[in-house]
Amino acid sequence: MDKRIPKWLNDAVFYEIYPQSFYDTNKDGIGDINGIIEKLDYICGVGFNALWINPWYDSPFNDAGYDVRDYKKIAPRYGTNADAERLFKEAHKRGMHVLIDLVPGHTSIEHEWFKKSCLPERNEFSDRYIWSNSIWQEITDAGSLKGISARDGAVALNFFSSQPALNYGYYNRTQDWQLPPDHPSCLATREAMKDVMRFWLDMGCDGFRVDMAASLIKQDPERKGVMELWKDVFYNFLDKEYPEAALVSEWGNPSQSIGCGFQMDFLLQFGNGAYNSLFKVENPFFSKKGKGDITLFTDIYNKLYRETCEKGLICLISGNHDVFRLSRKFDEHELKVCFAFLLSMPGAPYIYYGDEIGMKYTENMISFEGGYDRTGARTPFQWDDSFNAGFSPNEKTYLPVNPCYKEINAKKQQNNPDSLLNTVKELLQLRKKYSALKAFSKYQCIYAEKDKYPYIYKRSDGGQEIAVIINPSERAEICQNVELSGEVIYSVGKPASFNGGNVTAYPQSATLILLK
Ligand code: GLC
Ligand code: CA
Repeated sequence: MDKRIPKWLNDAVFYEIYPQSFYDTNKDGIGDINGIIEKLDYICGVGFNALWINPWYDSPFNDAGYDVRDYKKIAPRYGTNADAERLFKEAHKRGMHVLIDLVPGHTSIEHEWFKKSCLPERNEFSDRYIWSNSIWQEITDAGSLKGISARDGAVALNFFSSQPALNYGYYNRTQDWQLPPDHPSCLATREAMKDVMRFWLDMGCDGFRVDMAASLIKQDPERKGVMELWKDVFYNFLDKEYPEAALVSEWGNPSQSIGCGFQMDFLLQFGNGAYNSLFKVENPFFSKKGKGDITLFTDIYNKLYRETCEKGLICLISGNHDVFRLSRKFDEHELKVCFAFLLSMPGAPYIYYGDEIGMKYTENMISFEGGYDRTGARTPFQWDDSFNAGFSPNEKTYLPVNPCYKEINAKKQQNNPDSLLNTVKELLQLRKKYSALKAFSKYQCIYAEKDKYPYIYKRSDGGQEIAVIINPSERAEICQNVELSGEVIYSVGKPASFNGGNVTAYPQSATLILLK
C-alpha cells in the first residue's frame, strides 16, 4: 500500500446517503442530519464502516444541492453546522469515516461569488467565473449563459444553466479571455476551494467525493491540465496539511485520477463502459439470462487494475443518485449474485442507500429538483411497513415513497435470514474476517472468456488466498482446466463443485473458496 493511502481505506466499505431521502427526524418530510445520526447503528449493523453523503450545503436546489449557494453552511432543511460536527463525532465513535461531496467545478447562480462576478465594475470576483468579452460572444466549448446582468459578456456553464463554471483556467487557449491555469485569478479560485476543504476537514470530515473532478480545466482534451491541478492540490496541500484525508473522484478513468493523486476513483456509468456491461446494457453479465460478455468488463478492468493497484483503489458501485437502481433489471436472487461480486472485488465498494434491500426505481416520476430520469432512484428509504415506510410522519415527503415498501423494507428483511439484506451482511462479515478480501489485497483473473460463464478470480494477501466463482446465469456452467482445491466458506445458491481441473458452477450462484 502506497504511504499516501490512509490505513482505514483497506477495510472501508462505503454507504452513499442521499440526505433528503434517508430519515426525517423533525417531521418536515425531508431527511436530515439528525436522521443520519439516528440511523448510524443500522448502517454499522449491516457492516458498512464509511459514508459518502451527497451535498448538504445551502442551495436553491436546482440540481438537488449540486448547485451550492454557500460552501460553508449546512442547508437549513438538513440542520445546522453543529449537527454536521456531531455527525462526524458520532460516526468516529463507531469507528466509521465520513466523506462529504465537494463540488469544485461550479456554484449556483445564487452564490455570492457569482453575484459579484456579474457586476459591471471590476472586482475580486470578476474572473472567478469564465466570461467572454461581449454578450455576443458565445462560449462554445462549454455552453453559456447570457443576458443575466449588466456585465457585458457571456458566462460559461458546467452542467445545468444555473451552474456556472468556476474559473480554473484553460489548457489550450484560443481567446484572450481564456486565462492560463497559473493566472492569479485562477489560482485564487484554487485557493478558495482549498479553503473550503480546510473548513470541513477541520470540522472533522475524513475527505471528499469530488464532483466532476475532471471538469475543472477547460479545453484540456488529454486532461493534462486538470491532472497538474490535482497533483498540486494533493502533493502541495492535502498530503502536507491533511495526510489522513481520502478523496474519491467522479472521474471514471482511474489511471488518470489515481495518477494525479486521488486515492480512489469510481468505475462509472459513463466513460469506458465496463460498469454498463455488468449491469446496464441490453444483456448485462449479471442477468440470469446468461447472455452477457464478461470480457467487456475484464478487458478494461484488468488493465486498469494493473495500472493502479499499487497506488489507489478502483471503486465499484451498486448504483448512485445518477443511475437507475440495479433492481430495475434484476430480481432479488440476481441482486444477491451482484453483491457477492461487488463485495469480494478489490477496491472500496460503494453501496447506494436502499440497494442493500433491493429498493425499486420508481418509474415515470415527474422530475424534481433537477432529477429528471434520476428522480426515480432518489425516493425515501424504506425502513418498515408503517406510514411512509417509516421515513417521515409528514403527509408530504421529499419524493413519494415507492409503493412497494410494504413488501420491501429493512425491518422485514432484518427478520428474514434469506433476505438480500442478510446476504449483504454476511458478505460484509466475510470481508472483515478474511484479509484476502480487503481493498488492497491482490486480484488475479482466473477465468473470463468471451460470451461464457462463470467468471472466476482469486484474491490474496500474503498467505491467504480466496477464489470467487460467479455464475449469474440460470444454467449450470462447467469450465475446464481450472485447478482449485480448498474449502467453501460461503455461497449464494448451491456452492460450486471442483475437482480434477473441472469447475461446475450451479445456476445463479456465487462461491467463495478458501484455497489450500
Ligand atoms: C455529478 C453529480 C450529479 C450532478 C452533476 C453536476 O455528476 O453526481 O448528480 O447533477 O455532477 O454537479
Ligand atoms: Ca427533516
